[in-house]
Amino acid sequence: MSLLNEIEPLRQNALIELQAASDLAALDQTKGAWIGPHGKFTALMKQLGSLAKEERPTAGKLINAAKVELEAALTARREELELQAALPKEPTDFTLPGRRRALGKLHPLTQVTEDIVRAFRKIGFAVADGPEIEDEYHCFDALNTPADHPARDTQDTFYLASIAEASPSVSSPRETTGKTPALLLRTHTSSVQIRVMKSQPPPVRIIVPGRVYRRDNADATHNPTFHQIEGLYVDKGVTVGDLKGTVEFVFRELMGGDVKIRFRPHYFSYTEPSYEIDFTNALVKKMGKDWLEIAGCGMVNPIVFENVGYDPEIWTGWAFGFGIERIAMLRYGINDIRLFYENDLRFLRQF
Ligand code: DAH
Repeated sequence: MSLLNEIEPLRQNALIELQAASDLAALDQTKGAWIGPHGKFTALMKQLGSLAKEERPTAGKLINAAKVELEAALTARREELELQAALPKEPTDFTLPGRRRALGKLHPLTQVTEDIVRAFRKIGFAVADGPEIEDEYHCFDALNTPADHPARDTQDTFYLASIAEASPSVSSPRETTGKTPALLLRTHTSSVQIRVMKSQPPPVRIIVPGRVYRRDNADATHNPTFHQIEGLYVDKGVTVGDLKGTVEFVFRELMGGDVKIRFRPHYFSYTEPSYEIDFTNALVKKMGKDWLEIAGCGMVNPIVFENVGYDPEIWTGWAFGFGIERIAMLRYGINDIRLFYENDLRFLRQF
């Protein structure tokens, strides 16, 4: 048989074999057998010289065309096999539900804080911030809390004596009494009232959400770390009526329309007069109680204004401090404050 007649059957066989290669390794072998250096088509090329001169161009063209076709078929088959190799071995059931990434959520205390902040923003309050490591001046002295007040006792307050001693540059009015200036973990957010008033002239309209610390043993209603929201409003002609109206507005925003607020006379050194705020709604009743104490408040004591350089003859104001945990417990019906800090997902997922 002439070489010319051999080309076509070889081409056909090669194509069939390429298609039949069932994996990439087999395909590589087939490729070698046909168009590799020792392949059958390469051998044909070498035999061209033995042909009659006038047959050579035709035979050369045919062989080349077949090689090009084989190369293309090879590439196509390779792509098919590569795709096959990448596909999962088991058939995929596209009707199965997908695997979802677990989404995180805001902690219930953060949610409550954000809602309170949102309510206050509606009536023009800005958020202020201050340090958790405070000094006695901002936490107590400037707030008119006398040196012998029980809140200042080491039984109640975490003092950072070692830091105070290591940083003699920290100044405190206590220096004037000859004692070491003491740093402490702030026991309330009221310290930020002082920082804000010292840094800006009146009027002031701020709230301060933040973490506070007390030397309490943890139980169902106490934790050594908890959160407060402080409020401070300073302007001309501010009254207790403004305070009550504001508190009522915010609690209705937070807890719904059936909220009732009651002011009970109390004592705080930085307000005069001072009150405790009691709260009730259907939930409180359901807990078998008439009222729940939720905040302290009052009209800013003129002595505090003097301490920060505001003229008490011109400026009036009110302030309050809420416990955020209290409000969150009320809102969600939680009966143990410690649940907030345990990071138990079974608890946290419910909010
Ligand atoms: N600082 C008080 C506390 O931690 C709460 C408080 C009472 C804040 C009266 C105030 C206030 O701003 O005027 O119990």
